[in-house]
Amino acid sequence: MAGEGMIPLRPGLEGVPVAESAISFIDGKRARLSYRGYAVEELARKSCYEEVAWLLLRGELPTQRELADFDRQLRSHRRIKYRLRDLLKCLPETGHPMGALQAAVAALGMFYPARDVSHAPTNWESVIRILAKMPTIVAAFHRLRNGDDDLPPRDDLDHAGNFYWMLFEREPSPAIRKVLDACFILHAEHTMNASTFAGRVAASTLADPYTVVSAAIGALTGPLHGGANEQVLDMLEEIGSVENVRPWLKEALAKKRKIMGFGHRVYKVKDPRATVLQELAEHLFAETGRPKLYDVALELERAAAEELGPKGIYPNVDFYSGIIYMSLGIPKDLFTPIFAISRVAGWLAHWLEQLQNNRIFRPEQIYVGKPDRAYVPLEERP
Ligand code: CMC
Repeated sequence: MAGEGMIPLRPGLEGVPVAESAISFIDGKRARLSYRGYAVEELARKSCYEEVAWLLLRGELPTQRELADFDRQLRSHRRIKYRLRDLLKCLPETGHPMGALQAAVAALGMFYPARDVSHAPTNWESVIRILAKMPTIVAAFHRLRNGDDDLPPRDDLDHAGNFYWMLFEREPSPAIRKVLDACFILHAEHTMNASTFAGRVAASTLADPYTVVSAAIGALTGPLHGGANEQVLDMLEEIGSVENVRPWLKEALAKKRKIMGFGHRVYKVKDPRATVLQELAEHLFAETGRPKLYDVALELERAAAEELGPKGIYPNVDFYSGIIYMSLGIPKDLFTPIFAISRVAGWLAHWLEQLQNNRIFRPEQIYVGKPDRAYVPLEERP
């Protein structure tokens, strides 16, 4: 029942602004994405994740001193308590790592209570802890589920290098470190996407930041959002060969299947992050070898451009990220957790921004249920 004067329903809130934000900007027609005014392509090539996280959180590029302090703080907060490790050990090894990450981040809030979100220094401490510990949680869950000991973080390695070390017990080559770091940068923020909005809704209740981030992790999990990167690889494996791309696509579209890693609410051209990821992938393959699935992906992009291009459906960020992670030897179900450990910088920036001018989110609904009716006692029902 639409109430008087009610705004008509916009499914998926398409085109409805829910906040003013100064964190990032997308021009979906010109394939542009910027963080605090800086083009993401330039940041991916010239910056590092730690600097980008500071930029998103604080609004300006750091000075040398600020970056060094921030980096030192992050390195010193990477360790997780043994009881958190015990929690990870208790989770089923067959469970999805996104579930483990969400549970562990929620549990972090019990170890480091931060309920008073009006205290800026405590908020900053929470930011550091969450950013620093999420990679450790993902790597620890992965190793523990395989029956391996988790590895303590290495204070002498940067954010990307240390994550790689904790997963594989070997240091990345400079090229691999750079690719992983650039992937973190490219996934760090993306305006009012579903997980960021979920985080901002939780933030608007003045929930603590661990709860805010675990809400955002939950929203990122779904296949229409961050979960797509894992499904892209499943899809490419299902296609199997370059020759099978066109028949597969024809059948998939006839069955009204969504092509994973394609389409976006805002971009009506190729996602600029997909373009950078593709460049990175090609550099990386010089070191790791060119996987067969990359050729399948290229052919799918070509074929889909003919079929879906006219509708403005092109590759998004998830299309090439999985192939990169696969080439690094990272298992498929860690792709979305890697998205999460990157995007957390954006989520936290939005959390701080929401607190600056907070009002609880409490939208409306259009009631389409039964009108008022009288209760019938159980014994009188037919
Ligand atoms: N394959 C085939 N058709 C598509 C696709 C696709 N990937 N995406 C959209 N369409 C069609 C859709 O069937 C619909 O057609 P019609 O008008 O004939 O019914 C039209 O395009 C509009 O689609 P929609 O689902 O209403 O668009 P949306 O803005 O609500 O959804 C999306 C955006 C990203 C959820 C959607 O494009 C999709 O499901 N893509 C596949 C999943 C994916 O790759 N997700 C990652 C998104 S980017 C990274 C992130 O945010 O996590």
